[in-house]
Amino acid sequence: MPEPMSCTAEYLMRTALHGAMVLSMVGALSACGGGGDGGNSNPLGNPASVSNPVITGGQKLSFVYFQKCINPILLAQLPALQGGGFTNSCASAGCHDTVTGAGGALRVVPGAQAVDLTDPANTPAVIRNSDMYKNYYSAQGAVVVGSSTQSRLLSKPMLLVQHGGGQIFASLSDAHAARIAYWINHPMPMGQDEFSAAASTMFTPQDPQTGACNPP
Ligand code: HEM
Repeated sequence: MPEPMSCTAEYLMRTALHGAMVLSMVGALSACGGGGDGGNSNPLGNPASVSNPVITGGQKLSFVYFQKCINPILLAQLPALQGGGFTNSCASAGCHDTVTGAGGALRVVPGAQAVDLTDPANTPAVIRNSDMYKNYYSAQGAVVVGSSTQSRLLSKPMLLVQHGGGQIFASLSDAHAARIAYWINHPMPMGQDEFSAAASTMFTPQDPQTGACNPP
């Protein structure tokens, strides 16, 4: 009858077995395409055929059009369409006021001042520090660029989805809703920023300073 194996011997044998199993699993993983560089180094990485590029940004919406044509809508006293005779602005206290609002991620600074974009001192860095830019950035955050009715900035006040503030716009034929949709569907060209001169086509005549907001 063979000598029973000492504890130490048994322990060493089990450890060796485990080590062998892990190594064979790593080997198997490499064989099935793991490892970022075609299966050679990182078994838990992606096969060479899969790439996960970092998303650096999509198209931006126009800042000048927002400031002149959208921010005034967020400040306008608008009736709630379900009756009850309430009028409220989107930026009202309890609604989307950035301090007192209960309106989720859409935050509006009611007193945001228009930025003079003809003043060379107002560089992009200076503008991005302004309250008006905070309103722009928050509103753009509620947008799916190029898709107006999928954008919460419209689907909420149009009550296409539940909205704590009720229905504000009956449909896209509402002049305010049409303007928000126009902003969403006319992003700046890919690769250009939110201050792109391409925004001039969003005004009639094509001058953000003197032109009226499209659609008329
Ligand atoms: C044109 C005006 C308005 C627009 C564009 C608008 C837009 C929005 C958006 C985009 C959200 C979702 C925010 C998130 O993703 O977290 C939202 C939520 C909300 N809004 Fe408004 N809103 C408007 C007017 C109002 C008004 C007047 C009130 C108050 C009477 C109000 C109360 C709320 C509340 C309480 C929520 C959070 C609950 C929810 O997600 O529905 N909103 N609104």
